[in-house]
Amino acid sequence: MSQTVTGVIARSKKAPTEVVDVVIPDPGPRDVVVTVQACGVCHTDLAYREGGINDEYPFLLGHEAAGVIEAVGTDVSHVEVGDFVILNWRAVCGECRACKRGRPWYCFNTFNASTPMTLTDGTELTPALGIGAFAEKTLVHELQCTKVNPDTDPAVAGLLGCGVMAGLGAAVNTGGVGRGDSVAVIGCGGVGDAAIAGAKLAGATTIIAIDRDPAKLEWARELGATHTIDGSQVGDVVTAVQDLTDGNGADVVIDAVGRPETYRQAFYARDLAGVVVLVGVPTPEMQLEMPLIDFFSRGGALKSSWYGDCLPERDFPMLIDLYEQGRLPLDKFVSEKVGIEDVEAAFSAMEAGTVLRSVVVL
Ligand SMILES: NC(=O)c1ccc[n+]([C@@H]2O[C@H](COP(=O)([O-])OP(=O)(O)OC[C@H]3O[C@@H](n4cnc5c(N)ncnc54)[C@H](O)[C@@H]3O)[C@@H](O)[C@H]2O)c1
Ligand SMILES: [Zn+2]
Ligand SMILES: [Zn+2]
Repeated sequence: MSQTVTGVIARSKKAPTEVVDVVIPDPGPRDVVVTVQACGVCHTDLAYREGGINDEYPFLLGHEAAGVIEAVGTDVSHVEVGDFVILNWRAVCGECRACKRGRPWYCFNTFNASTPMTLTDGTELTPALGIGAFAEKTLVHELQCTKVNPDTDPAVAGLLGCGVMAGLGAAVNTGGVGRGDSVAVIGCGGVGDAAIAGAKLAGATTIIAIDRDPAKLEWARELGATHTIDGSQVGDVVTAVQDLTDGNGADVVIDAVGRPETYRQAFYARDLAGVVVLVGVPTPEMQLEMPLIDFFSRGGALKSSWYGDCLPERDFPMLIDLYEQGRLPLDKFVSEKVGIEDVEAAFSAMEAGTVLRSVVVL
C-alpha cells in the first residue's frame, strides 16, 4: 500500500519551499522505502529551488540523508529491513561505458527508484539528486543505500551522502592530495571545509582556507586549515596564496564556490603543473574568458569533481570508521539540528553564513 508522509517541495522557480503531503508508492522489485532520520541542507537544494539545476518542478528537496530501511521490493538483496543506511546519488550500474572502462566513480547510468513519488493529486515529483529526503520517508533504489555502523548519529552520517563526501573526495580522490602537499581551498562552507578535512587526512602540510566570511575561516581552522585568507580583506587572493607557498602557489587548489572569479583565482593560485579542482557548481549563464596561452604555459591538470569521485560502498563505511576513531571530526559540520518546517530558515542561515550545515532531523 502506498503511504502519505510529510515532505518539503519547491513548486516553482524562486518560490519559497512548501511543506506538503507526499505519496510514497509501494517499492518496485529493487526499490526500498527508507524512514529518513536526518537530512543535511546542501547548497544544491537551494540551487534546485532557484532553478539553477533544471526546470523539472516540483522538486522534492533534500539529498544528504541517513535513515533506516522500512520496506524492500521483491528482488532486493543488498539491504534488509532495519538496516541503518546513508543514501547516495551514485548507485553504480556496472554496465555503462564508464563502468566498463573500470571507472565506476563516473558511472553514467546510476540507479534510482523505479516509480516516482507524487503529490496527493498525482503530480509527479522530481527528487533532488534522485533522493528527495526532506521527507519522513523516501523511495530509492536498493543500491542507493550504503549500510554503515548503526551507532553513528544519523545527523552526522547523512552528511557523507553529499557535501562532505563531495568536498573530501574533491581533495583526496579528484585532486590526489598527498603527504607534504600544499592545498588551497576557496569557499569554506560544508563542501570546502570537507576538502580541508580531507587534505589534512591525506597528509597535506600547508592547507590554506579562503573565504570572505571570518566566521567561516574560524571553522576552517578547526577542521585543519593551517593558514587563512579573508578574500574580502586582501587585495589579491592569488598573491596571498603565493606568499604562503614560497612564492610558487599551491600544489592543489580547490574551488568550492564555482564562480568565474573564484575559478580564475584557483587557476592562478596553483604552482606550475599544479592541479585545479572545480567542485562548486556554476550556473548555466556563467562565462569565463582567459588567455589560452596561460592554459598551455602553466600546464598541470584542470579537473571537475562530481560527488568527490566517490564510491559509496567503498568510502562511506571507511569514513565512518575514521570518524568513530576520532580521526575525522564529522560532527563539527553539524551547526544546528532543525525541524522539517525549517528548511526555508536553513536556506537563509546558509546565505547569511551563520551555519556550516543545518541538518533536518525527523
Ligand atoms: N560537485 C559536487 O558533487 C557537489 C556536491 C555538493 C555541493 N556542491 C556545490 O559546492 C558548492 C559549495 O556548497 P556548500 O554547501 O559548501 O555551500 P555554502 O553556501 O555553505 O558555502 C559556500 C562558501 O563560499 C563562500 N564564498 C562565496 N563567494 C566567495 C568568494 N568569491 N570567495 C571566497 N569565498 C566565497 C561563502 O562565504 C561560503 O562560506 C555549491 O556550489 C554546491 O552546489 C557540489
Ligand atoms: Zn555505470
Ligand atoms: Zn548536495
